[in-house]
Amino acid sequence: MIDGKEFARQMRSLIADEVSLALREYDICPTLDVIIVGDDAASHVYVNNKEKAAAETGIGSHIHRLPEDISQAALLELITSLNAKSGVHGILVQMPLPKHLSGEAALEKIDAYKDVDGFHIVNTGTLHGASARRSLRPCTPSGCMMLLETVISDISGLHALVIGRSHIVGRPVAEMLLQKNATVTIAHSRTRGLPELVRQADILVAAVGIAEYVQGDWIKKGAIILDVGINRVERDGKRKLVGDVDFSAALERARAITPVPGGIGPMTIACLLQNTVYAAYLQHDLPEAYAAFEGKIKDLSHSFNPSHE
Ligand code: GUN
Repeated sequence: MIDGKEFARQMRSLIADEVSLALREYDICPTLDVIIVGDDAASHVYVNNKEKAAAETGIGSHIHRLPEDISQAALLELITSLNAKSGVHGILVQMPLPKHLSGEAALEKIDAYKDVDGFHIVNTGTLHGASARRSLRPCTPSGCMMLLETVISDISGLHALVIGRSHIVGRPVAEMLLQKNATVTIAHSRTRGLPELVRQADILVAAVGIAEYVQGDWIKKGAIILDVGINRVERDGKRKLVGDVDFSAALERARAITPVPGGIGPMTIACLLQNTVYAAYLQHDLPEAYAAFEGKIKDLSHSFNPSHE
């Protein structure tokens, strides 16, 4: 079992040290501004968790709670004003937005160097392109790669199957795996013969959003499984969270697997905080500090013992 909750805890501790260093050495307090529109209860829980995690690491945060009926123009105006503030390093617009607002327009308005979600077209382009420009990478895929590195450092030539082609997880994680020289297949809702593909996968990233969709007996013996799914189900009259993979069956066959909850989930917020520090270094033109911080995070992945049992 890959203990993502523990890894994320160690990462937050490392980020807290980095925030102290940024203050001491550069007089910078990395700061995150989150915009949330409307009253969606789940989104408010997510945003409150982000605020709590930021506070724990010393990252400054400010939540902008906007009414459901705010206009597109007013939302874009707020983003423009945050772009212009030098004390704001990260901007995040919580999705989904109410139907009358364009999430795409909001994302494109954010300064790419402040886009801590890594969703802006410039950050997407940098991830998929050949540019050496430093950028902000999307959080969940980054979390997947970090946990993968705790199990195996060289994935060159291995077959990685990504189930899901979303712009938030599937596509960026496929690109990251490819950059590490894996042989990558992307499967999705129209894919035929999925069980056969899963049987060939040394690394499986499941990001379909369907409870226990991947059956245990599809899984190759010794495979490494990263389960991105967070699905609410009812079992024996109780509500619980399960992933996209039949966990108990997969546990028998896999070399390593992330549990749900406590696997990939906690990594997303940790990576958001990490991106806020990167964003501060990018905006203050501190490439050495950025690279040094990146090195510390890599060291954590390599030294972490994935199963704390
Ligand atoms: N809604 C659910 N997850 C996320 C996330 O990671 N970022 C944003 N901006 N909105 C979300």
